[in-house]
Amino acid sequence: MKGIFITLEGIEGSGKSTQIRHVYDFLKQAGLRCVITREPGGTIIGRKIRSILLDPDSIHIDPVAELLLYASDRAQHIREIILPLIQAGEVVICDRYFDATLAYQGFARGLDMGFIHELHRLACRNLMPDLTILLDLPPDTGLARAWKQLETGYRPGNESRFERETFTFHERVRAGYLELAGAEPNRFRIVDASPNERQVQEQIIEVLKATPRLFSDAFLQKIRENA
Ligand code: TMP
Repeated sequence: MKGIFITLEGIEGSGKSTQIRHVYDFLKQAGLRCVITREPGGTIIGRKIRSILLDPDSIHIDPVAELLLYASDRAQHIREIILPLIQAGEVVICDRYFDATLAYQGFARGLDMGFIHELHRLACRNLMPDLTILLDLPPDTGLARAWKQLETGYRPGNESRFERETFTFHERVRAGYLELAGAEPNRFRIVDASPNERQVQEQIIEVLKATPRLFSDAFLQKIRENA
């Protein structure tokens, strides 16, 4: 049996890391075997790459070098974690994936989209998610949340390179994500991430219930019973 590949995307402070646990709990309760992973940093090698990429001391990183590091992290992640789990029939729920590269390195940094797609084909087997949930909210709200997490130590200070980018950069990331979602309405679902955790969770559960093409009849029966 082939598994299912679900990704969560969004700007800084959109609540992906909190909401991914709710996705996991919901699918698990309905009897599916699920694994949470993330990019960058889903493997041991990826965690080393993550520390380079998110360190504010890497501020002068060349945009192409940045792109290649995200692709390296992803190549390793696909080979070591994502593909074996999908082949074993698991639901892989990933905190960011290739759409983040398109939004951040493509739309926001302005790197060539053709080059980014070609790199994905060559290094990452063109593997795309079955479902992508985009947590959308205005950058001022997201950045305020993200800085609060940094100030309270919930998120480590040595992972703050992107929070330090300009407001315009974050606006371009958001606009990029919305454009990607508009171009692939079958794969993307947009969720309003502005309200509180519970309200966002409810929207996401509705999305999962309304995506029958991904799930087996047994699963759908179970979620109807749990509803
Ligand atoms: P996060 O794991 O806390 O979301 O942080 C990852 C950061 O890396 C976030 O600012 C978005 C950025 N990023 C990219 O720029 N390109 C990518 O391909 C990915 C996966 C993340």
